[in-house]
Amino acid sequence: MTDYKDIEELNRTAIEILRRNSREERYTVPAQKLYPFQWNWDSCFVAEGLATSSEDRAWTEIETLFRSQWESGKVPHIVFHKDAPSYFPGPDRWRCANTPPTSGITQPPVAATKVRAIYETAKDNDRADKALAYLIPRILKWHHWFHNERDPNGSGLIAAYHPWETGRDNSPEWDEPLKSVPLETLKPYTRRDTDLVPAAQRPVKEEYDRFVALLDLFVANNYIQKRLYDITPFKVADIGLNSILLRANRDLLWLVETTGHQGHHAEQIKDWIEAQEQALGQFWNDETECFHSLDLISGAPIPDITAAAFLPFYGGDLPEQFHEPLLKRFAAWAGKVEFMVPGFDPFNPKFHAERYWRGPVWPIMNYMIGNGLHDHGYGDQALRIGTDTARLIAAHGFMEYFNAYTAEGLGGHDFSWTASSWLCHANRYYAATL
Ligand code: DGY
Repeated sequence: MTDYKDIEELNRTAIEILRRNSREERYTVPAQKLYPFQWNWDSCFVAEGLATSSEDRAWTEIETLFRSQWESGKVPHIVFHKDAPSYFPGPDRWRCANTPPTSGITQPPVAATKVRAIYETAKDNDRADKALAYLIPRILKWHHWFHNERDPNGSGLIAAYHPWETGRDNSPEWDEPLKSVPLETLKPYTRRDTDLVPAAQRPVKEEYDRFVALLDLFVANNYIQKRLYDITPFKVADIGLNSILLRANRDLLWLVETTGHQGHHAEQIKDWIEAQEQALGQFWNDETECFHSLDLISGAPIPDITAAAFLPFYGGDLPEQFHEPLLKRFAAWAGKVEFMVPGFDPFNPKFHAERYWRGPVWPIMNYMIGNGLHDHGYGDQALRIGTDTARLIAAHGFMEYFNAYTAEGLGGHDFSWTASSWLCHANRYYAATL
């Protein structure tokens, strides 16, 4: 039983966090010092939370992000609106010629899904229409970029070139593929994240070295995507990013068919969905009876299983044959940990209860997995996820991530997407925890 806190007070705190993390009424930082700029998928999750108190501010959040879209269609993972010395790597290292400066990689594309969610509950139709007119062509351009630049052979498998593009930076899945990233020419750098969060909760130095070395390689190649497709030493098809894009394509199709914006692109989107649906089986392993990310350089499935293995439910219309084995795994994990869903397989010896994407529970992952299960009719599992998330946040605050055994809050404090996940997902389950 959770210590009783008034739901209205929790809602107010969540809204207040979003207000405090808002900058110039245009964008929201994920957390005050740890992440002092605008992050791509954070911002889209945050927009949905903002919409609960201001639709206009919600639309502005996503519009601001898309103002920094590259000519190629890529939407960068960070927009450096203002200088902030508390973060590394900043614009000097990324060396992208944009104003404001941006990073040179992307992040999981949740924009279409959040635009649809905000649109479906919008009361101000004029503002919504203005937002759609601006955003839909740009989201189309971004998805086009994923399908063309990151899947030039039309395989339906979309490549990530950097662990940060998967959003699950230091997942054990990337340990092996990262070993091919050369470190010989790595220039010195100073991390800032471990000044702000205990080192045991963040990626280790060996990972960070390779994160930065990859970034330097992209700079040296002027971010030319098709060249990078052939030469990047790290190239994975992440089951998370691929499921998120599949879901985003479905929501984009809904938007163009329903709202009258860019309706002539419907066939193109259907082709993308079909290619992705056909590729889904390649992520499946008959021995483990689970989805795995793929190393596109070695061609091999990556053995480690993470919470992202449940994201194909969120991807939508998941063929029946995959349900039972995934639900069996869900039940095994649920019997092992106190709080679902641990970011990494709790039966794997590499599980780490505190270290970022190597074990802790992340409210936004829970939001996506919970919704996916719910949409496929698995209400009990969705309830378990929703109530666990509500208990974690109500007891330990709006932290970045949580220990799946002890509930301890970890990482950044007053975290924007945790506040948003509360407002859009977890608070619906709070009453059931009391
Ligand atoms: C970080 O700096 O830890 C981010 O996840 C990279 O975008």
